[in-house]
Amino acid sequence: MQDSLYRLLYVSRSSIGGDATDLRREVDSILEVARRNNAAAGITGALMFNARFFAQALEGSQQAIERIFENIQCDLRHGSATILSFEPIEERAFLNWHMACVDQESAVLRAFNELTEGPELDPANFDGAEIFEMLQTYLRESHAA
Ligand SMILES: Cc1cc2nc3c(=O)[nH]c(=O)nc-3n(C[C@H](O)[C@H](O)[C@H](O)COP(=O)(O)O)c2cc1C
Repeated sequence: MQDSLYRLLYVSRSSIGGDATDLRREVDSILEVARRNNAAAGITGALMFNARFFAQALEGSQQAIERIFENIQCDLRHGSATILSFEPIEERAFLNWHMACVDQESAVLRAFNELTEGPELDPANFDGAEIFEMLQTYLRESHAA
């Protein structure tokens, strides 16, 4: 029998310094490794980021997600990684993506920037359902799904 599917959503605080170009370069290198590892582990998902926060969805077997998330949590390019939800799902939302990434020019990213405004924001204050909806909207609108 196939392992049951799970989806994990988390938010973390970015520790990547420098300007937008430095951030983009670092995220491109994260994506390259992520896509390779996730493809091998049967993980799909989507990543959204700005200068302050990362938000990511990971879908796959519970064991595969736990293994990958353990690595992700130790990564010094971010901190305070906080799980918003980790639940069984019927089907994958990011089926074709070993890691999609929200375009910096997209309306969804503008909404994420608004959501993350404010000085005292904690990753635990984010709403997993809202983050998931934003990632799904992005893929729908960019016709990337
Ligand atoms: C925000 C963020 C998201 C990441 N997402 C993934 C991911 O989805 N899959 C993955 O394998 N690594 C991801 N990484 C990278 C891992 O932290 C780690 O560098 C990588 O898994 C190491 O892989 P390697 O042992 O093949 O070099 C992410 C890192 C950050 C900072």
